[in-house]
Amino acid sequence: MKLASRLDHIEPFYVMEVSKAAAALAAGPACDPAQGGRRMLWLNIGEPDFGAPTGVGAAAQRCIAERRTPYSDATGLPELREALSAWYAQRHGLQIGPERIVITAGASAALHLACLALFEPGDEVLLPDPSYPCNRHFVAASGASARFVATDATSRYQPTPEAIEQAWTAATRGVLLASPSNPTGTSIEPEALRRISTLAHERGAALLVDEIYLALSYEERYAQTALALGEQVISINSFSKYFGMTGWRLGWLVLPPDLVRPVEKLAQNLYICASTLAQRAALAAFTPEGLAECEHRRDELRRRRALMLEGLQRIGLPVPVAPDGAFYVWADVRAHAADAWDFCFDVMRRAQVALTPGRDFSPQMARHFVRLSFATARADIEEALDRLGRLLGR
Ligand SMILES: Cc1ncc(COP(=O)(O)O)c(C=O)c1O
Repeated sequence: MKLASRLDHIEPFYVMEVSKAAAALAAGPACDPAQGGRRMLWLNIGEPDFGAPTGVGAAAQRCIAERRTPYSDATGLPELREALSAWYAQRHGLQIGPERIVITAGASAALHLACLALFEPGDEVLLPDPSYPCNRHFVAASGASARFVATDATSRYQPTPEAIEQAWTAATRGVLLASPSNPTGTSIEPEALRRISTLAHERGAALLVDEIYLALSYEERYAQTALALGEQVISINSFSKYFGMTGWRLGWLVLPPDLVRPVEKLAQNLYICASTLAQRAALAAFTPEGLAECEHRRDELRRRRALMLEGLQRIGLPVPVAPDGAFYVWADVRAHAADAWDFCFDVMRRAQVALTPGRDFSPQMARHFVRLSFATARADIEEALDRLGRLLGR
């Protein structure tokens, strides 16, 4: 059977492939304490270990018992759009009308819908190197081409306005950033973001900012949403990370008013709606108790970040830029290995610690960097750093 040529531009998600190898090892004797092995420690995980806020599960159960699960509007339950609008007002002091918010099946569907609405073959979209790999594949799925913009530690692995301007061609139709970023946990400087937004607006291109980790900001300086720059900015967000609801598959878009109807049309046809069950349950996350629980978890992640950074410094794995958000650290392993991919497999086999090689995220830095996640229990982070330290002779 002939496959569509768009697949030529979609690479495997190597994070998943490495996880699969680690899971296979974890199920074998090397990780079985009964056979003298040690359990695998997971520093490769892209989801918090907390799960959804307490009230969310009970709300879902009530919803099932009452059979309140028909399709919702393609743009989402009005109550949930209202709740998000109120959340923006309370958290960011911004008036974002519920009519600009579209509920989606995770940030993934939000990215898919936005890219399909905006881009087509012949278009180019600028993305930083490094960045979350699926983002360039959403661009590819629309038929457009993703063009990488090189970054380095001096700009927190985020593109500078100058680099964006240099990479701009007659075909450029959009800029897609993530702040804080996966894999680096670093955010773009607010002034750089403002200048990139102005540039894109003046040239009639779209600025899409993936803010899925924004609520997990640890520094006030980077905690404001790009939506504060004006209603031309498109923000992608999710219940997966801050609200701990990865498998519920729920996210949202904030759109310029004239993009809502086109995205609604696409959503009606492609997805009908996001899960009604997940939407009703998510409402429980916005109670004072639900929000307090999420903030408490952010404090815990902040403590884990400190533990991770101190530990990595102790064992000699440099982190050129400390993360200000999310739960990732982008560490330079070139003092210890010629290739980060081999380093990860070596660490997995000899220390039973699962890491993520840079390969998915960065053509430019793939060979020298690994991503470590601190979305796991403090005791496991400490143990993993000890094992790594011993392996590296520290
Ligand atoms: C930067 C970024 N964007 C989007 C996603 C997709 O998230 P969701 O679970 O909401 O689809 C992820 C998931 O890890 C991510 O890291």
